[in-house]
Amino acid sequence: MIGGGYVGLVSGTCFAEFGTDVAIVETNPDRLTALREGRIPIYEPGLDRLVAENVEAGRLTFGDDMAAAVKGADAVFVAVGTPSRRGDGQADTSYVYAAVEQIARAADAYTVIVTKSTVPVGTGREIARIVRETRPDLEFDIASNPEFLREGNAIQDFMRPDRVVIGTDQYKPGGTERAQTILRKLYRPLYLLETPIVFTGLETAELIKYSANSFLAMKITFINEISDLCEKVGANVNDVARSIGLDGRIGKKFLHPSPGFGGSCFPKDTRALTAIGRNAGSPVRLIETTVAVNDQRMKDMGERIIAFANGDVHGLTIGVLGLTFKPETDDMREAASIPVLDMLDRAGAHIRAFDPAGMTTARPVLPQSVTYCTDALDAARDADILVVLTEWNEFRSLAPEKLAREMKGRKIVDLRNIWDPKTIKEAGFEYISLGRPD
Ligand code: NAD
Ligand code: UGA
Repeated sequence: MIGGGYVGLVSGTCFAEFGTDVAIVETNPDRLTALREGRIPIYEPGLDRLVAENVEAGRLTFGDDMAAAVKGADAVFVAVGTPSRRGDGQADTSYVYAAVEQIARAADAYTVIVTKSTVPVGTGREIARIVRETRPDLEFDIASNPEFLREGNAIQDFMRPDRVVIGTDQYKPGGTERAQTILRKLYRPLYLLETPIVFTGLETAELIKYSANSFLAMKITFINEISDLCEKVGANVNDVARSIGLDGRIGKKFLHPSPGFGGSCFPKDTRALTAIGRNAGSPVRLIETTVAVNDQRMKDMGERIIAFANGDVHGLTIGVLGLTFKPETDDMREAASIPVLDMLDRAGAHIRAFDPAGMTTARPVLPQSVTYCTDALDAARDADILVVLTEWNEFRSLAPEKLAREMKGRKIVDLRNIWDPKTIKEAGFEYISLGRPD
């Protein structure tokens, strides 16, 4: 498994749990040291125990020696990052290609090179070209096995997925079956659970991943726009979402209004799909609009807070609950808190923030002036306004009277709809949330 980040570490550990011998190769020295010392460098519930058990059982190892890991491997998975390229929004595949060249040099016998990273359509073919050029003598196959896990629920998502997608090269006689047999064996425990395993061609598997993420991002953006409309016409977005979601054709998941979708995947993958579409001469206009609407929404959220403070937050203290792009992760990549806090900071507010897992990851990406607090009540201390940006469970149960005791002002902006408007207002707060009538 090349790459020991969110996907490589979780997938590698879960494959080991399935009974396979897994060597994870990680080049970041800090991450590698942590892993070797039994520390998990990311926040992912349950992962520490699963890693420890599989290391103990001798099925899971960590190192930086690519050659040692690749020699004798039936399959080599590439799980390195594919961030957005500055400027054109395309996925940067340079880490993938660099890893593939190293794999090709190190391989000593037949192996299947599998992309777990999310990669643009055509990457699999380019990988095959690179391997052929680097090692004309090597017997190999290429496969695409996109990963659908969510941070915060990653182990469950990997162990009990809705489906597994395996794309192999359809055009090479014999090759497809050999690669498919190896991958089928790796996923054997899921066959026993009757998980659908979809075999496709390479390009199809690559496009499935972008289509899935983009569809979910579009669904969120839809409910966010309906939420804005609810505010204008006096309707309740929670009831709209619940009622449309009860139609099985729509489904109730991913219909929670928010300050905009963030994270390491939806923003970059929606941008990448629009680039793939444009380059192929078949623009995906719905997703182009989704990207634009979501970017604008994050900016609008800062303005919404300022408007609630009668147009001026200069000199005000703003308490912030939640910084990460969603709960149960320490990941700050493309979190809504970044543009929102940036705007409040530039407008002259003093920001007191707390996040249960993201305090360390937040510091490098948030304005320097932010004060980091020890808990939620500490963030509320002396605040004129309190803002909820991430819906961590521990915030849901905060008693409004306790918040009132800490705060100087009586204004709350709840951008995740975690509280009941009636209860909060009865405690004497002025309260705004998303798409719910006053
Ligand atoms: P990440 O940045 O957390 O991890 C990537 C790791 O690969 C890093 O630790 C990096 O040091 C390491 N690395 C880079 N080049 C290497 C090399 N040549 N050899 C060894 N290690 C190397 O990224 P991530 O969040 O795990 O995402 C990886 C890929 O999986 C991306 O394409 C992403 O879109 C996709 N994905 C991510 C998620 C998620 O929830 N994070 C879910 C599904 C798919
Ligand atoms: C997402 C997908 O859900 C995974 O299936 C996929 O594998 C992964 O991207 C990936 O490709 O990396 P993740 O980014 O971990 O997983 O988180 P999600 O739970 O999907 O949330 C993404 C963003 O959407 C968050 O900012 C979240 O707050 C937001 N969201 C989600 C909403 O605003 N409303 C919702 O109803 C759901």
